[in-house]
Amino acid sequence: MACARKKILLVGAEIMPFAATGGLGDVLGSLPLALKAEYGRRADIRVVMPLYSAINDKWKKKMKLVCEFTVPLAWRQQYCGVKMLKKENVIFYFIDNEYYFKRDKLYGNYDDGERYAYFCRAVMEMMPMIDFYPDILHAHDWQAALTVVYLKQKYAHLDEYRDMKAVFTIHNIEYQGKYSFAIRGDVFDLDVKDEGVLDFGGCINLMKAAIVCADMVNTVSPTYAKEIMTPEFSHGLDPILNMFSFKVTGILNGIDYTYYDPENDATLPVNFSAESIDGKYEAKLSLQRELSLPEDKEIPVLAVISRLASHKGLDLLTKISYNLMYANNVQLVLLGTGEDVYEKHFAELECAFPDKVRALIKYDRDLSKRIYAAADIFIMPSKSEPCGLSQMIASRYGAFPVVRETGGLYDSIKGYYELDGVQHGNGFTFANYSSDELKERIEAALALWSDVEKRESFVRKVMTTDFSWGASAKRYIEMYEAL
Ligand code: GLC
Repeated sequence: MACARKKILLVGAEIMPFAATGGLGDVLGSLPLALKAEYGRRADIRVVMPLYSAINDKWKKKMKLVCEFTVPLAWRQQYCGVKMLKKENVIFYFIDNEYYFKRDKLYGNYDDGERYAYFCRAVMEMMPMIDFYPDILHAHDWQAALTVVYLKQKYAHLDEYRDMKAVFTIHNIEYQGKYSFAIRGDVFDLDVKDEGVLDFGGCINLMKAAIVCADMVNTVSPTYAKEIMTPEFSHGLDPILNMFSFKVTGILNGIDYTYYDPENDATLPVNFSAESIDGKYEAKLSLQRELSLPEDKEIPVLAVISRLASHKGLDLLTKISYNLMYANNVQLVLLGTGEDVYEKHFAELECAFPDKVRALIKYDRDLSKRIYAAADIFIMPSKSEPCGLSQMIASRYGAFPVVRETGGLYDSIKGYYELDGVQHGNGFTFANYSSDELKERIEAALALWSDVEKRESFVRKVMTTDFSWGASAKRYIEMYEAL
């Protein structure tokens, strides 16, 4: 008997290359394509996100209107247009409603709760309109959490929805979607009977509700899956996760090997690969020129590319930054925006070391790739890190990652050591949340880098570590099949 084609719908608030602010967008842009590559014709993979005004016209022009209908949300009757485009045999849907999604920014609007309630309701109502009832509804992070809750609490009694299974992926447990019960009916369109599912500590907690309702819950690395079982990492949700631990797993993310490919990356001034790394030196000279830093390929470039948020562990770096820059012949390039204290600190550091430091307080994807390519050492001292993609991208572009052993950093980077002339590991790691340990590991990385022969063989080793989606896509498929 021929197997029926598996139907999978991934739901999330951002997808690369359409609109994204962080790692979630990277994953939702690349995981569906990786699933399709593994499954081939055996699965029909579709993805859905809001049609934000931030999406480039180039993409909007490629979209086709599929259908229009009205979405009920409590007393509201809201317009919904579904647009679609196809990319590498995956169908991407975009939920169009200008009232909700024609905004200056993706998130951080006063009515995010209502915007994503509408989005989730629209996804559920879209299924009969496009005649696609997935076998697996795979929701990502709190903005999509309500699809899981709606499925189990509002739709499961209907024939077409009854056998649908729900997977919920936690990319970052810090953002849970917490709201007052005052808007339970009015905004979320849920009933008194749903309060037990929604309630956490006296308020509505959408992530908690999705954990309760989902058939499987996963997070983006095996270590983070263990960490969030403890109060230190769970932002309060550890009692719930422990109660449902039988359905919680961790699967390490991969990165998009086509988008992040130093050999063919058109945004780089020179391309290079593990077989021929000379272009990496050229990329460094070119970045030094671009940033008006002294041009010298023998000065190691340290890089930080990160949201400047406290859980990224930047206070460890700020503590040692003056000393580090003073004591070593190095350059430091930092790219990112975020909390004031860090923006200020690194701007001041640049003033103190104008020939050594560049603090680029902005978000710029193309520039980030030129920095990855130019960097010799990539610093990522996170306090917690669900998965982290930057350490993988940095590796692919030949920078030695220096990371703290937490979450996905622990799962992806193994500490360097040399035994009988053979290099082991793929980076530099430290365990305690300590600026001394960070400094010691940066200096160890610099010491290795200063030996040209050892440097170049380790650059090759780091560049060829496998961070592609292959193995992880297989793990997701196993999870789907188990359901
Ligand atoms: C979030 C996490 C990050 C992870 C990404 C993709 O941004 O903070 O660690 O890599 O999601 O899953």
